[in-house]
Amino acid sequence: MDIYELNQLLRPRKICLCLGLSEEDLKKAIDENQITTFEELQKVTKCSTNCGTCENEIKKFLNQYIKKSSAS
Ligand code: FES
Repeated sequence: MDIYELNQLLRPRKICLCLGLSEEDLKKAIDENQITTFEELQKVTKCSTNCGTCENEIKKFLNQYIKKSSAS
């Protein structure tokens, strides 16, 4: 584990600052609710419901995570 990974582990990066949601929070919600769309993720976590600047990043993260999950 390098210093970047250690930092990520200790201080998870918030992907939605307004709602204080980290990538781990979103992964948990995706897995627990079998989420496949941004709208479903938004409904469950309320992500991107304030300023909305995180929307594109969350969509990109969701697509990558779903792709990665279905490949394994
Ligand atoms: S950063 Fe996600 S709604 Fe503002």
